[in-house]
Amino acid sequence: MADSNTPIKPVHILFVGAGAVGCFYASRLHHPKQNIHTSLIARSNYAAIAASGVSLETHSFGNYTFEPYAVFPSISAALPNPTLSSTSPPSRSLPSDGWDYIIVTTKALPDRSDDAATVAPLVSAKSCIVLVQNGVGVEEPYRKRFPNNPIVSGVTVVSAEQIRNGVIRQNRWTRISLGPYGNGLGAPSNATDDKSADVVRRGHECMERLAQWWTKYGGIRDAETHTELELQTIRWHKLCINAAFNPTAVLSGGRGNADQLTDPELREHVLGVMDEIWKAAPKVLGKPFPKDLATPERIIRSTERNAGARPSMLLDWEAGRPMELEVILGNPVRIAKRAGVDMPKLQTLHALLKSMQKVREERKAKEKL
Ligand SMILES: NC(=O)c1ccc[n+]([C@@H]2O[C@H](COP(=O)([O-])OP(=O)(O)OC[C@H]3O[C@@H](n4cnc5c(N)ncnc54)[C@H](OP(=O)(O)O)[C@@H]3O)[C@@H](O)[C@H]2O)c1
Repeated sequence: MADSNTPIKPVHILFVGAGAVGCFYASRLHHPKQNIHTSLIARSNYAAIAASGVSLETHSFGNYTFEPYAVFPSISAALPNPTLSSTSPPSRSLPSDGWDYIIVTTKALPDRSDDAATVAPLVSAKSCIVLVQNGVGVEEPYRKRFPNNPIVSGVTVVSAEQIRNGVIRQNRWTRISLGPYGNGLGAPSNATDDKSADVVRRGHECMERLAQWWTKYGGIRDAETHTELELQTIRWHKLCINAAFNPTAVLSGGRGNADQLTDPELREHVLGVMDEIWKAAPKVLGKPFPKDLATPERIIRSTERNAGARPSMLLDWEAGRPMELEVILGNPVRIAKRAGVDMPKLQTLHALLKSMQKVREERKAKEKL
């Protein structure tokens, strides 16, 4: 039944990247009775999702099947037009002026593909672009390419995986933190101040609506909204976990987060990386981490209780997939340098892992010849 949060006109939301995070959050946002229609662009799992929808096995909401409004095999198949492609029942249509929200939930791999350019054909004047990805600096290419579109930046604390094509398991947590994105610092930057403030204001409105729908209709109680600067602070804070444990898991020969902490040398290294971020982020963002965010020591204590967790970078390395090295290591180093701060530990991790990845890929390419 419709209520005051129900859009009067149908809202069309497109997720680009139908993996663990994309399918989980899309399934909590699709509410046809409330006029909210969620579609997916899938890739390797397209056939499975087109045939039977997405099966979800969740800790938070039980098991269920999510039938998206439409599923597309490619970006070009999802271009705005009066009727959806042959993959959808003919009665299903979408406004010719395009997608209301484009939510990007791919792995952030700017060294492999320019995803802002990839999604560009989908973006119309009314589209709000939402980026739900790890790391920092993920928004910059989108802001450059789409100066007039609202952008919402999103950070999740969830543990989810695709266990086979079209089957997603959510192991724990649901938190999604959202913030509008202007220039990353929450302040107008140049002579076009009025225009950039307006883009951020529209981003703020889009973000509030999304969070309400996720909470009210999707049962995500911790869909939280923030200012631009607060959200960037959350991104840098999450790096304390991702930039410390993920690279160390790969370089230590495959040790999970809690296991790393049982080794005194690795423990000192992990704490050193966190400390580097703890000191650099306030200089980048212009203000200290707020007191309610966990300190490195608290992160260490809660990680020790979470035995068995293996970070995604390790899983990607073991599966021969590219790792999110630029957004978790390269971008923080570059962004900090712009603020006059060196991050030698992150720089070392970045250099070593980038080289390991390159050497392995070159070897594989030679083997194929
Ligand atoms: N999983 C978690 O628990 C978790 C928690 C917090 C944050 N995150 C972050 O959330 C982001 C998404 O992670 P994830 O775990 O959901 O990754 P994932 O399971 O690997 O999903 C990414 C999906 O994007 C698809 N994709 C990539 N490029 C595409 C393109 N050009 N067109 C269409 N589809 C494309 C991939 O398709 P293919 O399979 O064909 O490659 C894959 O299905 C990452 O930044 C990650 O670090 C994840």
